[in-house]
Amino acid sequence: GSGTVFVVAIDGPAGSGKSSVSKEVARRRDYGYLDTGAAYRALAWHALAHEADTSDAASVIDILGDFDYAISLDPDAYWVRVGDTDVTAAIRETRVAEAVSGVARVPAVREAANRLFRQLIAESGRAGVVVEGRDITTVVTPDAPVRILLTAAPEVRAARRSAEVTTQSAAAVAEALHRRDAADSTVVDFLTAAPGVTVVDTTELDFDQSVDAVLGVIATVEEQQ
Ligand code: DC
Repeated sequence: GSGTVFVVAIDGPAGSGKSSVSKEVARRRDYGYLDTGAAYRALAWHALAHEADTSDAASVIDILGDFDYAISLDPDAYWVRVGDTDVTAAIRETRVAEAVSGVARVPAVREAANRLFRQLIAESGRAGVVVEGRDITTVVTPDAPVRILLTAAPEVRAARRSAEVTTQSAAAVAEALHRRDAADSTVVDFLTAAPGVTVVDTTELDFDQSVDAVLGVIATVEEQQ
């Protein structure tokens, strides 16, 4: 288990507001923030750096051995490193996004990642950690006191992504989002809430309202404890 650290587990698809909302909730609660997708992205970056074939599980497992990864849990000073290289910006590149489903679907990768996530949570040194990803509520910390599925209608998610990505047309962004959803769905089901998971639908909510909704779920759980 994650000891006495209060875990807020948040799953959801791209464009649901998951990352920005999770980070802000962590700030407001003075909790740590763990972006699990960044770990999968960092491994994809590492695989590309080693010219590994990310569609081949054996090649991915090969490079897992010397994957030296570090991530900040501070929502105000966020960085990701592989070895001595700061990959915070590089892991957001399209080439990484396109390779990441390949590495994330390898069971040995997910098992290693889950062990690492649980260790990072336990050793965070914080009273709580907001952990965001695709399988946090179901696999990584299924016993977390707060488990949330953050969702939004597909067209709203595409519009939000489009506002972030200014280098591509809205249609191209929607198409890329759709492709990512389809590829990610073959790895974990992140669109249905598991039993006991609270759905927060942000379709009609702006950023502040989404943050307040998550803080509200946390407050309700605290009152019940
Ligand atoms: O949330 P993101 O876009 O940074 O996630 C990057 C990739 O990692 C995406 O393809 C889904 C995958 N992922 C996963 O399989 N499990 C997680 N807990 C988090 C992310």
